Amino acid sequence: MREEGRTAAALLEFISKSPSCYHVAANMSDILEKAGFSRLFEEDTWSLAPGGKYYVTRGGSSLIAVALPRERVSGFQIAASHSDSPALKVKEKGEISVDGRYVKLSVERYGGMIMSSWLDRPLSLAGRIWLEREGRLESRLFCADRDLLLIPSLAIHMDRKVNEGHSYNVRKDLQPLFSMTGEKSLSQVIAEEAGLKPEELAGCDLFLYNRMGGSIWGAQESFLSSPRLDDQQCAWASLEGFLKGEGSPGRVMVYCVFDNEEVGSGTRQGAGSTFLRDVLERVVAALGGSREDYLRAVAKSFLISADNAHGVHPNQGDKADDTSRPYLNGGPVIKYSANQKYTTDGATGAVFAALCRRAGVPCQVFHNRPDMEGGSTLGNISAQQVPIPSVDVGLPQLAMHSAYETAGVQDTAWLVQVFAKFFSCPVCGERDGSYRLEF
Ligand code: CO
Repeated sequence: MREEGRTAAALLEFISKSPSCYHVAANMSDILEKAGFSRLFEEDTWSLAPGGKYYVTRGGSSLIAVALPRERVSGFQIAASHSDSPALKVKEKGEISVDGRYVKLSVERYGGMIMSSWLDRPLSLAGRIWLEREGRLESRLFCADRDLLLIPSLAIHMDRKVNEGHSYNVRKDLQPLFSMTGEKSLSQVIAEEAGLKPEELAGCDLFLYNRMGGSIWGAQESFLSSPRLDDQQCAWASLEGFLKGEGSPGRVMVYCVFDNEEVGSGTRQGAGSTFLRDVLERVVAALGGSREDYLRAVAKSFLISADNAHGVHPNQGDKADDTSRPYLNGGPVIKYSANQKYTTDGATGAVFAALCRRAGVPCQVFHNRPDMEGGSTLGNISAQQVPIPSVDVGLPQLAMHSAYETAGVQDTAWLVQVFAKFFSCPVCGERDGSYRLEF
């Protein structure tokens, strides 16, 4: 298999093991432990060694890893992405009886998904559960690894206009069928799957996930499809690049993945929280630096925010911009927005393009069509807590926020290469706003 095929297969394996944001953080913790990173806890005193490698999690769904230099800290080089994807979340006491014959589950929408993509396919539940044992509440990852739920669509005979544009209502159209009346309750099934007694189950954060596995396809296997490519594709690729990075004198290499991007990032563990700032401040302090040292380091830092981008759609090419038209397998995409939905400016975009060139990777440009609003992402939200020059990038994909998304096989390997380059050389702003490109 070609190198990019192996990379794509490894990505799909990671995604299949990561049906929720909690699994993303846990699986990344395992990868980091195997690579020699030690876990820190926010409630402990941090004593860090120069040259050391550490990681810390917050809320069970966000994670920051740091690889420290041996020298005095002169700046941070940061990759940021997100661990969450749009999904349907099961409500507490969410079972609804239908005519005394069926039981369906009441769900809420998490993030903005393409609702129709969740219909007529096997679904299941994943996330975390809380159990009460001997006066303690403990959290545990949960994944029912079997086909458990399905949201059936309505027959065309009962809705003749279904192909003329259907409007979906989460309360009415998106409630998954769970059981026949009188069968096991939801808490019984959860307890059974987790190997617990039902009375031990004290709480849960459970999301529906698509059971369909990832696929590599096309005449010459150029495409890959999977649930949750946004943003696990960038999160995984930037982690791989981070682990391949060789470091650079004086630079703290920082890998972050944040939860709750799909709902605005304004949570304790989101990109809008103090998580990144707290970690960076504590790193400088633990290495003997002052507040002044921290602020000086921030001023000489660089952040790449990596969140998937829209590729030109084969059937809807007119929805893309006239002049910036990224295609799958055309390389990472630099995102620009005049109204600052993206943080990229002329300088940070040029730094990223230079990194791509040095890594031997092509790159592309994205602007929203000027008469369309488009989405937003992490960069400008984290910049409000840690004011570091940043560039918003992503891999081109199709069907963003569908339960089954599509991207290019080659692009993942390219993004790994770019991040490996970023984490091996200094990207350092100077006092007059210029950048030294020493790579
Ligand atoms: Co995203």
